[in-house]
Amino acid sequence: MNSIKKIGVLTSGGDAPGMNAAIRAVVRACVYNKLDCVGIYRGYQGLIEGEFKKMNARSVKNIINRGGTILKSARSNDFFAKEGRQIAYDKLKLEGIDALITIGGDGTFTGASVFSEEYNIPIIGIPGTIDNDINGTDYTIGYDTALNTVVEAIDKIRDTANSHNRLFLIEVMGRDAGDIALNAGIGAGAEEILIPEQDMGRDRLIESLKRSKNSGKTSSIIVVSEGDQIGKNIFKLASYIEDKLTSYEVRVTVLGHIQRGGSPSCYDRVLASRLGIGAVDALLENKKNMMVGIRHNKLIYVPFIETLKTTNKLDLELIRVADITSI
Ligand code: F6P
Repeated sequence: MNSIKKIGVLTSGGDAPGMNAAIRAVVRACVYNKLDCVGIYRGYQGLIEGEFKKMNARSVKNIINRGGTILKSARSNDFFAKEGRQIAYDKLKLEGIDALITIGGDGTFTGASVFSEEYNIPIIGIPGTIDNDINGTDYTIGYDTALNTVVEAIDKIRDTANSHNRLFLIEVMGRDAGDIALNAGIGAGAEEILIPEQDMGRDRLIESLKRSKNSGKTSSIIVVSEGDQIGKNIFKLASYIEDKLTSYEVRVTVLGHIQRGGSPSCYDRVLASRLGIGAVDALLENKKNMMVGIRHNKLIYVPFIETLKTTNKLDLELIRVADITSI
C-alpha cells in the first residue's frame, strides 16, 4: 500500500531546455494516477517561502515546446541552513504534500538528499542540466538541446573565421565537465577541444596549432570548456596564442547563457517525458531518495548519494575521434 496522495514538483539550479516537458509529464502522471500535484515556484527558495500552486492537466498545456521552466528556478542559500530546511518542512506539512519530485543538477540532488534524510520525506530527482555531469545517468535533460545550440553557433562562427583566415576561441558551458565541449567540438569540426578532464598544456596547444597551419589550414576553431585549466581565462589564452604565433589573428566568443535557452530538441522532450512518468511511478512503488535516470535507453533508479560521486569520465574513444578527424 502507498500512502502518497499529494506530490510537490520543483525545478532548481540552472534551468535546462526540457524542464517544462518534465513538469508536464509529472503533472499528467499525477492526474493519471489520481494524485494531487502542487507546483512549487523558484526551487527550494519557493518551498521555504510557500510559493505553491495546485496543478491540473491543463496547467501544463502548450509547454512541451518551451525552454526555461514555468515553475522558475533559483539557487537557494537559505536551504543550505538547517533553519531554512525546517521552515520548508513546515510549509510542506501545512500544504499536505507527502512527497517531492525535484528537477535539477547536483546542487538540487545534494539538497534533496539532506532534506529527505532529515525529515524522512520521499524524494525522487530528475536530472535536468545542460552539463550532463550527473553520475549514473547517460543523459541529463537539456544536454542534447544545448549541444545543438552550440553546434549551430559554431557553424556560424566558422563562416566568418574562414572568410578572414582567423583563429577563434569559443568558450562553452559545462562547469567542471567537458561533455558539451567534446561532443559539440566533434560535431562542429573543431581543430582543438580543451576540456577539464584532460590537461593539454599550453605548449602542446601551440605545437598542435603550428602543425595545423603547416598542413594548410587557414582558419581554426578551438572549443574551450569553461572549466578547463588553460582556458579558465580565455582572453589571456588568446593573447598568449597571438604572442607565440604571430601569424594568427585570434578572436574570442563566449557563448554563455544562450546555451541554456531555446526550444528543447525532440530527444530532450521524450527523455523528459519518460523521466517525469518514471519519477511518479517510483514514488508509487515506495522508492525514495533516488534519481530516475537513463542508461542504455532504459530507465534506472540510482540513490542520490551515488549520483553525487564525481567521476572523471574522460571518453578516450571520443578523444581519438576528435584527434583523427581534426587532422
Ligand atoms: O549548471 C548549468 C550551468 O549553466 C553551468 O554550465 C554554468 O557553469 C552555470 O550553470 C552558470 O550558472 P549561472 O546561470 O548561475 O551563472
